[in-house]
Amino acid sequence: MPTEAPTFWRVGRSYRAPLLVHRFPPEVPFGFVGRLLPTYESIELTVEAHRIPSPNALEMVQGARAVAEAELASGGNDGRVAELEVERASAAELGQAVARRTQDLWKVGLRFVVLSPTRPQVEAKRSRLAERLAAIGFRSRVPRYEVRETLVPPELSAAEPRPAGYWHTLPTDGLASLFPFGDETLLEPGGVLVGLALSDASPVFVDRWSHASYSWGLFGTTGSGKSFAAALVLLRTRWLRPETSIAVLDPLGEYSLWVESLGGSVIRVADGVGGGLNPLDPVTTGGDRREKAARVGTMLRALFPSLRDEESAELDAAVTQLYERGPAVPTMSDLQDRVAEWAGPWSRLATLLEVFRSGSLRVLDGPTTAHPTASVVSVDFRGVPDDQLPFHLTYVLDWAYGRLATNPGPKLLLVDEAHLLARHPATEEFLDRVVRHVRHYDAGLLVLSQSPDDFLIRPAGRSLLRNLYTTAFLRLPEVSAETRAFFGLTAPEAEWLPRARLPRETGYSESLWRVGELHLPLAIVASTPEYEMLEATLGRSRAAASESDSPAKGSL
Ligand SMILES: Nc1ncnc2c1ncn2[C@@H]1O[C@H](COP(=O)(O)OP(=O)(O)OP(=O)(O)O)[C@@H](O)[C@H]1O
Ligand SMILES: [Mg+2]
Repeated sequence: MPTEAPTFWRVGRSYRAPLLVHRFPPEVPFGFVGRLLPTYESIELTVEAHRIPSPNALEMVQGARAVAEAELASGGNDGRVAELEVERASAAELGQAVARRTQDLWKVGLRFVVLSPTRPQVEAKRSRLAERLAAIGFRSRVPRYEVRETLVPPELSAAEPRPAGYWHTLPTDGLASLFPFGDETLLEPGGVLVGLALSDASPVFVDRWSHASYSWGLFGTTGSGKSFAAALVLLRTRWLRPETSIAVLDPLGEYSLWVESLGGSVIRVADGVGGGLNPLDPVTTGGDRREKAARVGTMLRALFPSLRDEESAELDAAVTQLYERGPAVPTMSDLQDRVAEWAGPWSRLATLLEVFRSGSLRVLDGPTTAHPTASVVSVDFRGVPDDQLPFHLTYVLDWAYGRLATNPGPKLLLVDEAHLLARHPATEEFLDRVVRHVRHYDAGLLVLSQSPDDFLIRPAGRSLLRNLYTTAFLRLPEVSAETRAFFGLTAPEAEWLPRARLPRETGYSESLWRVGELHLPLAIVASTPEYEMLEATLGRSRAAASESDSPAKGSL
């Protein structure tokens, strides 16, 4: 015999406790239902939807708009002006969409029912569900003394009496967001494990090679675990596809030991260990000398950001001539000679370029001698002065890009501390171009940086971000309005990111992944062997320690 109590319904040892939604937030991410209903709890969600014929729908939308306008006009609602304006604008927008039939309006019946064998359990589960709903902006309500009306099965006519909070009017998009079936991409066959869902620890696999862009971005504050997560993803990628080649642009020298432990080779630009790279070698553009001249202009602007317009023009002229008439493979000395001819040997430009002849960059004045054949390669910039880092990153990116274009098979290029390339418009445009083109070479980038804001200022940076199919946010100290709008983060997501827990607090990174349209809060967790391998090989302090232990700097 079923027993009805004020707030639940009992059949034998089964308690059914309903919860209704009183108010929806202004926006919800697709797939959010998966977060509300963890797989380890028995909760029913019933959704019934009845399309509202479009003349009635238009009338309703116009009615809503008129109410908002009337309230605004009466001016008696100071506290709600902003909200009313939003209502008016969204009613107008929705009205157009309904008129064009790109959206319909739906009468949607919605109820959650929590199931449990005991009363305390069912109450506790229901309040946890209410908390989860509140966390993403829903207001819920327990239908007190209305349990029977809530629980009667839906009728086809949708005419049966229901308590307040059961029926909602939603546009098609709002209804679609209620479908919990958005998760087939969470289990992309052949993908790598990127993390465990924070809601229920279910594993999430992502296959970059099945997407429109193979490139990913990882953003997070210092210590949030970007470098660790990137190395973890690369390891897992190599286990699945051992033929994947990896190149790492490593401004802080954190990956050297890790690369060596994978049997790879390391080039150290500060002292030429591992071989030298000639920034002027046209091999990087497959012999296209005009393209190479443009890239050389970009790298030198990154090195000399203070160039005046006329100096920039002189430099361009000298570089162009160098590639038109100069030696097949020019060196930095050749460039300086050209500049001396154009601008005079005592010009500021010629003096600036002296750094390649007798100054700190003279290791770059010569032919390329680094020809690594290993399938894992990193370029370590440790020891390079901070103001030269953007320059080194740029010509090494040019070199790595050349390798991506010529080497066969799948390839991944990790660019750590990528904000260094966002300092200057020309280098940012170059990085954007690389991200846009590498897919044609069966390659993807992993772009790591502390804040997405660095890339939101200029069109090239925005284009780059748009071309990252997958973006992971680890803890961000703050989420700017621009970042929120650009990535379509909801208010609760933006509020959560500054509180996402750090690996030093928890032993894993909390993160929010944006895979296409899906938003997934994940724990980035390494298995014990992965963790031990990464802990032993990755990081600045360990890199420094290995240096002091090396025979060259030993105890002689
Ligand atoms: N998923 C993880 N599981 C366990 N430990 C982790 C994880 N991620 C990071 N760590 C630990 O936290 C430390 C800091 O991580 P990491 O160097 O990757 O941060 P980062 O975001 O790259 O910081 P920075 O911006 O300073 O380079 C690592 O040395 C490692 O010990
Ligand atoms: Mg790092």
